[in-house]
Amino acid sequence: MPIPAEFARAHRAQFEAELSDLLRIPSISTLAANRGDVQAAARWLTDYLGKIGLASELISTQGHPLVYAEWTGAPGRPTVLCYGHYDVQPVDPLDLWTTPPFEPVVRAGSLFARGAADDKGQFFTIIAAIRAYLETKTPLPANIKLLIEGEEESGGASIEAFVRDHGDRLRADAALVLDAGMFAPGIPAVTLGLRGIVMTEVEVTGAARDLHSGQYGGVAPNPFVALAEIIAGLKDPHGRILIPQFYDRVVPPHPDEEAGWDRLPFDEEAFLHAEIGAPALVGESGYTALERMWARPTLDVHGMPGGFTGEGSKTVIPAKGSAKISMRLVPEQDPAEVFRHFEAHVRHLTPRGTRVHIRRYHGAAPVVMSPALPAIAAAKRALTDAFGRDAVFVRTGGSIPIVADFIGRLGLPTVITGWTLPDANLHSPDEKLDLEHFHTGIQAVIRFFEEMGAA
Ligand code: BES
Ligand code: MN
Repeated sequence: MPIPAEFARAHRAQFEAELSDLLRIPSISTLAANRGDVQAAARWLTDYLGKIGLASELISTQGHPLVYAEWTGAPGRPTVLCYGHYDVQPVDPLDLWTTPPFEPVVRAGSLFARGAADDKGQFFTIIAAIRAYLETKTPLPANIKLLIEGEEESGGASIEAFVRDHGDRLRADAALVLDAGMFAPGIPAVTLGLRGIVMTEVEVTGAARDLHSGQYGGVAPNPFVALAEIIAGLKDPHGRILIPQFYDRVVPPHPDEEAGWDRLPFDEEAFLHAEIGAPALVGESGYTALERMWARPTLDVHGMPGGFTGEGSKTVIPAKGSAKISMRLVPEQDPAEVFRHFEAHVRHLTPRGTRVHIRRYHGAAPVVMSPALPAIAAAKRALTDAFGRDAVFVRTGGSIPIVADFIGRLGLPTVITGWTLPDANLHSPDEKLDLEHFHTGIQAVIRFFEEMGAA
């Protein structure tokens, strides 16, 4: 076994302990109260990367800091730009966690903590792989640039500006994005496509103040009923989105890619029970579940703030209410254009007697990569080798906003992969990372660097 691979195997406990230190820092990027924690995670990483022998730097931004590090000791060899995010999602509902989210523990071979899978435990395998070379004084087969952001879960505005302004510094031959996952236990995957996203909030106001629902019911407009009408007008009963021009730019996947999905060991019934737990799957008719999640755009409502939601009852007609609504996009839909069509349709659906205010939060463009790219083929070989099982090509319905710019702005063939399992509970209570997959993931990164260096 090559020396870095052996080093990684011999230091499993140490890598787990160090990852756990990082997981103890509650770096929730969307909550103002955690701003200091987000900073602390960035500093922890910058220090760690410096200590293992990289030139590392904490880069301040308008929002949360970026962490940048590089090793450029292989002149003439290819350069890989590696990406991860050190921010995490909020932890509520806290009472559904078996153990506290920021006190990592191992149960049944998995490490449980917020961020264990998304994404600290994933990009840490890149760092562990680099460390295995540096500590064994084995020259890395490729040059490495490492960019870790702290705003992925809240839209990634700062890294977008950084990539726009520092294209030269980030020059590379390929990108490695460790923020996706495995197809199933033991089955590694290269993710060829990500959906894009448009995140919005639709606020409806009716009366100038909250009103007694007995006194004024019958004349006063109700913002929640208005929102219900608006939402009901966004989709038909067959799951088709009713926004005019919404589907105009949608490009279906290549038949070869689709054929690959048909060969995946995917059982809809088992999936329904294991991952969804609802009485049935829903969605656009005429498409398989994988197509609906990976290659079709969707619209969802995340919450409806406002009105009376406290204990017991209160007979009130609220003055305002809102709905947080997002759309997931597929190639070649454009987030700004989709937002304009959405806005126009919501205005059209807004009932008499109410006013609507439509806000746009973050957006991200969808991406799809060709499996024929050498970097993708190299990743497939590396994953197949490390896991001892053929790596498959998949897409995911999730979004990683900066990837569109890695491809479009920096021109990088981008390998999107990771070691999390479908039941890793991303964004949910009891988020977890299977440790066997984590360690095999380190081996896979080492092999990917070898493959890239040999190119
Ligand atoms: N790691 C996820 C994306 C992902 C999810 C990849 C599932 C593969 C499988 C990422 O951190 C994420 O959740 N992104 C957000 C971005 C959004 C807030 C702009 C998402 O998709 O909701
Ligand atoms: Mn993530």
